Amino acid sequence: MPDDLLRYRSEFPILEKTTYLISNSLGAMPRGVYDSLREYADLWTTRGVRAWEEKWWMLAAEVGDAIGVLMNAPPGSVSTHQNVTLCQAIVASCFDFSGRRNKVVYDDLNFPSVMYFWEAQRSRGARVHMVKTDDGIHVPTERLLDAIDEETLLVPVSHVIFRSAYLQDANAIIEKAHRVGALVVLDTFQSLGTVPVDVQALGAHFATGGVLKWLCGGPGVGYLYVRPDLGTKLEPKLTGWMAHQEPFAFETGPTRYTSPPYRFMNGTPHVPALYATQPGLKIIHEVGVERIREKSKRQTARLIAMADARGWRVNTPRDPERRGGTVSIDMPNSQEVCGELLKRDILVDWRPRAGVRFSPHFYNKDEELESAIAAVEHILSGMRASVASRES
Ligand SMILES: Cc1ncc(COP(=O)(O)O)c(C=O)c1O
Repeated sequence: MPDDLLRYRSEFPILEKTTYLISNSLGAMPRGVYDSLREYADLWTTRGVRAWEEKWWMLAAEVGDAIGVLMNAPPGSVSTHQNVTLCQAIVASCFDFSGRRNKVVYDDLNFPSVMYFWEAQRSRGARVHMVKTDDGIHVPTERLLDAIDEETLLVPVSHVIFRSAYLQDANAIIEKAHRVGALVVLDTFQSLGTVPVDVQALGAHFATGGVLKWLCGGPGVGYLYVRPDLGTKLEPKLTGWMAHQEPFAFETGPTRYTSPPYRFMNGTPHVPALYATQPGLKIIHEVGVERIREKSKRQTARLIAMADARGWRVNTPRDPERRGGTVSIDMPNSQEVCGELLKRDILVDWRPRAGVRFSPHFYNKDEELESAIAAVEHILSGMRASVASRES
């Protein structure tokens, strides 16, 4: 069957020169980014400081809305920031950890940067409870649900686990949190753009993520969704003049919070990154996450089948409904194999306790998966031959 999504390949120059299987880390750059950044420079050159009122001040909210559409977030509920760690810090700054409800529950497959942040909140009174995995691929949902209790304040968990691509049962986690009065911070970095996300259907309290992976939006833009009823009440202490009702009044004294999404912002925004991010978002909107997901399930299944046929260990769920867009394969000498693949312009990465991560996106051909796996076989047979010659 012809693959209709391959017509987007011409939008991504790097696909001409490499086998690009690393969208779990950095999505390919759309060629439209050149024009977008030129537009930014032209506006700065021609309009100077007037660019703020004509475009730049509003851009953080505009880009937030464009990201929001992808997760069915209502307009005005998504603010943009530099990264996920900062987004979660803004959430944390809305709460006080000195009371009885001060428990923060997550699992040890959470993204480390986020865990470093939450661990550091112990000094503010947070009681961090980390639920452990047995197999390095997933944490049993029941185990996580059992840890979420009446003393739990926040549950910052990944929707899709970065190491294994395990798709957590966000419904069950949010439902349990809701029952006991806890709030979930769903990190959709590894899901949005490759797995359908609907924050309203989920009833998510908060969602965070970034655009540089599956949304092909480049580094420098993280997003924070706050459920609208919470958004009008919460008062982030990590704040600044963008969150003020009248930033240009330059008042002294305590802030007067404005409405979301600016309520959750702080200082001067990351304008160039907000420009660079737009062409990728436009393409993802046009392609549609449903079509991306359909292709992703098929291509990840193909990768798993090829690894199985060669007897390599797969550290990714086999059930397509519980799997995101990556397949982690721990073949022998996987770290060295990864280095060799990179030398051959087959772009993948390696993570401890995961192996080599292969992440096809809508722009990848099936033949690229086959040639990447054939290259691994070739590298391994070269390694075996050199060991044999040393031993003889
Ligand atoms: C699930 C997840 N969360 C967060 C991050 C990165 O966090 P930050 O944007 O703070 O660098 C990653 C990056 O690889 C990730 O996979």
